[in-house]
Amino acid sequence: MTKLRALITGGAGFLGSHLCDRFLAEGYEVLCMDNLVTGDLRNVEHLFADTDFHFHHQDVTEFIHVPGRLDVVMHFASPASPIDYLELPIQTLKVGSLGTHKALGVATAKSARFLLASTSECYGDPLEHPQTEEYWGNVNPVGPRGVYDEAKRFAEAMTMAYHRYHGVETRICRIFNTYGPRMRLNDGRALPAFMGQAMRGEPLTVFGDGSQTRSFCYVDDLVEGIWRLLHSEESMPTNLGNPYEMTIKQFAEKVLELTESDSTITYKELPQDDPQVRQPDISKARRILNWEPKVELDEGLRRTLAYFRDRVESTTESV
Ligand SMILES: NC(=O)c1ccc[n+]([C@@H]2O[C@H](COP(=O)([O-])OP(=O)(O)OC[C@H]3O[C@@H](n4cnc5c(N)ncnc54)[C@H](O)[C@@H]3O)[C@@H](O)[C@H]2O)c1
Repeated sequence: MTKLRALITGGAGFLGSHLCDRFLAEGYEVLCMDNLVTGDLRNVEHLFADTDFHFHHQDVTEFIHVPGRLDVVMHFASPASPIDYLELPIQTLKVGSLGTHKALGVATAKSARFLLASTSECYGDPLEHPQTEEYWGNVNPVGPRGVYDEAKRFAEAMTMAYHRYHGVETRICRIFNTYGPRMRLNDGRALPAFMGQAMRGEPLTVFGDGSQTRSFCYVDDLVEGIWRLLHSEESMPTNLGNPYEMTIKQFAEKVLELTESDSTITYKELPQDDPQVRQPDISKARRILNWEPKVELDEGLRRTLAYFRDRVESTTESV
């Protein structure tokens, strides 16, 4: 029997590589397309021996040619951490706009189902809390973070246009902060930064007074939600994330506890437009996907810490 085939853009990144694992486990042939700008081949090297896995080194803002059939296009290519998109502002805007256009183009040509990795950053610094899918957001288009937030908002608009005007089967997933193995230690997101600092015995850097809130979802839970959304009939945006909300200071203290580190906490100036609150309302995902996160924060953090420790011990990578 012919296998179903999935194109996963950004497949060598943190989330994309976990999706490659999932699609292969579900019996798909997987085409992982990545230009490695923020990804890492080590995230998928365990898949190279699998004859159903193919890696294409390509920038998805260029024309995408895929020989043969395609059943699914998962568009995950984009710098995603604030450090990455502030360093790569033009690439971030291009992959959200041109890259989404190219990925939708190939999905249309192949009559494939398309899923966009959108983000809670579409809500900006939200004036409604928690954020439901109906909230339109509070984004500063010309601030430094606008390159990411507006690229994703544009990507959502483009996806809906292809759905409405070309009849493409599209899904939009608004992903809230997700963590787990294969994050980069130096990608600037709170969790790897705290873990790296705790492992080095350095003070953990908290921006502002640490009272801003975040909600963290373990990667396995997110992948399950994405899988269910892809197979649902829902074309409007759907929040996926963990509603368990805590302050950044509480999160730093939790990392200190789990790493049994003697490090202290140091405070630095809050970056511009940093959201004060962030918590998904996942009522819709609960209702239409029968989904909610299962992995407790302590358990997820333990698994992630084990990954970082192993990574540091088995390579020359410095913490
Ligand atoms: N991790 C999260 O918490 C989170 C939250 C919200 C949304 N997202 C979205 O999920 C997706 C994946 O995020 P991630 O955390 O895995 O980040 P990541 O940086 O680990 O992965 C992104 C991947 O995209 C690749 N890429 C970037 N530009 C490209 C281009 N022009 N052509 C080909 N490949 C390109 C990178 O090399 C990398 O492998 C992104 O679209 C991001 O916006 C992630």
